[in-house]
Amino acid sequence: MINAVGRPQSILVLGGASELAGAVVAHLVPERCRTVVLAGREGPRLDAAVEAARSLGAEATAVQFDVNEVAGHAAFAADVFERFGDFDVVLAAAGVLGNQEVDEHDPAAAAAVMQANYTGLAAALLAVADRMRHQGHGRLVVLSSVAGLRARRANFVYGSSKAGLDAFAQGLGDALVGTGVGVTIVRPGFVVGRMTDGMAPAPFATTPEQVGAAVSRAITAGAPVVYVPSVLRWVFLVMRHLPRAVWRRLPG
Ligand SMILES: NC(=O)c1ccc[n+]([C@@H]2O[C@H](COP(=O)([O-])OP(=O)(O)OC[C@H]3O[C@@H](n4cnc5c(N)ncnc54)[C@H](OP(=O)(O)O)[C@@H]3O)[C@@H](O)[C@H]2O)c1
Repeated sequence: MINAVGRPQSILVLGGASELAGAVVAHLVPERCRTVVLAGREGPRLDAAVEAARSLGAEATAVQFDVNEVAGHAAFAADVFERFGDFDVVLAAAGVLGNQEVDEHDPAAAAAVMQANYTGLAAALLAVADRMRHQGHGRLVVLSSVAGLRARRANFVYGSSKAGLDAFAQGLGDALVGTGVGVTIVRPGFVVGRMTDGMAPAPFATTPEQVGAAVSRAITAGAPVVYVPSVLRWVFLVMRHLPRAVWRRLPG
């Protein structure tokens, strides 16, 4: 259970090897989050994430989870809550950036980005939300992106998938009002890290560490929406209203 000072003691991560999830775990474990369950595709990245959480002092476990295996999401959620008990936080971190130049000419590649980021992950969130309703407490934290606030010509495949996920998370948050379960939507800007490796940082670029700190604060505060860095809330308030002729010229 979330303790008296608002700190979670257990977390389930969907997309357990995510760099941003690792940064969140690195903030939560030293503040008494003991149970860390990292759900992801088996491999060295997931193993390394488990080791990193253990080295911080957590009881960390990897479980197999593929966001695209939608038919298995209900059974996955049932199994993981059965094995590990209640979760104070479920962090939805799975996602892919894709390659816009390829994806906009390859429908199957575009659909794979959309499924990983939106339909597959949203379906998993529904399965987990039912379990959290049943336990009557906890927080779903969804890693969205400012890219979903208004699709850009330069990355509209990824951006539209994040728009779908973000809208879904808003609706899910409303559906969960009164159940004891809250939803926090996280909207980072450009994060200098693995997903953006080799790309030129965008203005107001941030770091995984800053995302981890912001998510940790948002959990304690029960914040419904958090921008990282926080100035992006105001930047995008203006940018969303730029004329389309200007907007479509913005770089990726
Ligand atoms: N980095 C940024 O600039 C940025 C900015 C805004 C929002 N975000 C969002 O933040 C989230 C985390 O990103 P990140 O920076 O931590 O990137 P990351 O390190 O590449 O993590 C993404 C994770 O998603 C997992 N994943 C992808 N497809 C999956 C599938 N089919 N089933 C299960 N897991 C799958 C990957 O698993 P594998 O390790 O097996 O590949 C990887 O561990 C993403 O949703 C991303 O869109 C990132």
